[in-house]
Amino acid sequence: MPPVTVKLKLCALLCVVALLPGLATAQDESFGLPEGMLGAPAGTDALSTNNCGPTGDLRGDPENGKELHYKHCVSCHGLTGEADVVVMHMDETPRDQSDPEFMKTLPDSYLYLAICRGGEGVGRSFVMSPWGDFFTDQEIKDMIAWIRTFSDT
Ligand code: HEC
Repeated sequence: MPPVTVKLKLCALLCVVALLPGLATAQDESFGLPEGMLGAPAGTDALSTNNCGPTGDLRGDPENGKELHYKHCVSCHGLTGEADVVVMHMDETPRDQSDPEFMKTLPDSYLYLAICRGGEGVGRSFVMSPWGDFFTDQEIKDMIAWIRTFSDT
């Protein structure tokens, strides 16, 4: 049996070796975040490219929108926009985006502004945060196309 100190040294060495890869990745620009959690590269986001102004065809690629929505929005809005999730400490709960009667009252430009400028940008709750500095114009349009599939509007 090796003495306790030898065991401790060996343990310390192994720990350092085990931690090194973690330290290396923590130093790159992603801060160790999984790829999907990263926003648009600097300067390509909707806020800096078009100041959150909705222009052109506001319905993009729903399949890409689905992926983005899954990563960033379902925690509050639910998988199909019904807001059937329990979020603690949410002052204002999201409305049911699968309800065609509700969704017909909101034009695509409104959805664009709500996503880009946040709830406060359209006179609603701050709980819906502004995403304009995170997504590109195209990504917002992709999510609008996906959100529209919930209500078929
Ligand atoms: C922290 C919770 C939360 C997250 C995350 C969130 N939302 Fe919201 N969102 C809300 C709330 C709450 C409202 C309603 C605000 C109100 O009615 O005053 C809302 C409103 C909206 C609206 C306006 C239309 C409506 O349904 O009332 C759109 C569009 C929207 N969200 C899209 C998104 C998208 C796209 C994402 C992901 C990029 C997202 N939200 C992420 C909480 C959230």
